[in-house]
Amino acid sequence: MSTVSQVVRKAVFPVAGLGTRFLPATKASAKEMMPIVDKPLIQYAVEEAVAAGITDMIFITGRGKRAIEDHFDKAYELEAELAAKKKTDMLELVRGIVPKNVNCVFIRQNEALGLGHAVLCASHVVGDEPFAVLLADDLMDNGSGPSTVMKQMVEVYERERASVLAVQNVAREETKSYGIVSTTPWSPRTERINGMVEKPSPEEAPSTLAVVGRYILTPRIFHHLENTTPGRGGEIQLTDGIQSLLAEQPVFAYDFEGKRYDCGSKLGYLQATVDLGLRHPETAAEFTSYIKNHPVRK
Ligand code: G1P
Repeated sequence: MSTVSQVVRKAVFPVAGLGTRFLPATKASAKEMMPIVDKPLIQYAVEEAVAAGITDMIFITGRGKRAIEDHFDKAYELEAELAAKKKTDMLELVRGIVPKNVNCVFIRQNEALGLGHAVLCASHVVGDEPFAVLLADDLMDNGSGPSTVMKQMVEVYERERASVLAVQNVAREETKSYGIVSTTPWSPRTERINGMVEKPSPEEAPSTLAVVGRYILTPRIFHHLENTTPGRGGEIQLTDGIQSLLAEQPVFAYDFEGKRYDCGSKLGYLQATVDLGLRHPETAAEFTSYIKNHPVRK
């Protein structure tokens, strides 16, 4: 019997990107550290992975991303200060960012060669088992639903034992911002992918079904990424690796339950801030009344 784990217990977070859509905010700060209400984007993604049963978080970082490592590390001075001032709630909050059973690994991607290359950088830590990929600037909110988007995807993986990509329908003029899949129906909310192309123009797009920043991949993807040559934008694209994987394994598109905010864009970031601010226990009541009653000032 194979000893290789079939359980999804590792997640890769490619966080080396420059965040040019958010300049000047991201000139000297990591885009993944931008907060929605009071938590950085990367923490939302890690919490989503933890809720899906994932215990090994692998961050593919780059220059200027030290804050991410510090965020998931122990903060001695801060903790000592909070303890001395008996601010126990805040101390718990800071200490609980990484649950006890969770390990964090940081790998430096020293050249920005693309998302496919970033994922490939995790190969020796992931090894021969299925793994998740979460792009932190896509914030996935399942509202009051019982399962986070990644948990829903783990369930699809467990059923199909094959790679699963989260998809949503986009306007045709937006296909040039996404990996676009062509599919055939499979089961409720799940389609089987026939082909995938990175950022096609609206005229070339095979459909309007776009991949958003959540993937579960079989380790066979590494073999394909090793052989993937630079594609769109001169980068090694994860999309091209998956297109190549399709020749030997099925890959599924999953229409997730929940709402995706594109927090890499100013509009998506503002929408997430408003929606989550309206729900946050500390701001819900007053912010709701502010939004309702405040005259819009331009
Ligand atoms: C990346 C992927 C793209 C995917 C998108 C989801 O693009 O390359 O296939 O649809 O994430 O957010 P990026 O947004 O990093 O340019």
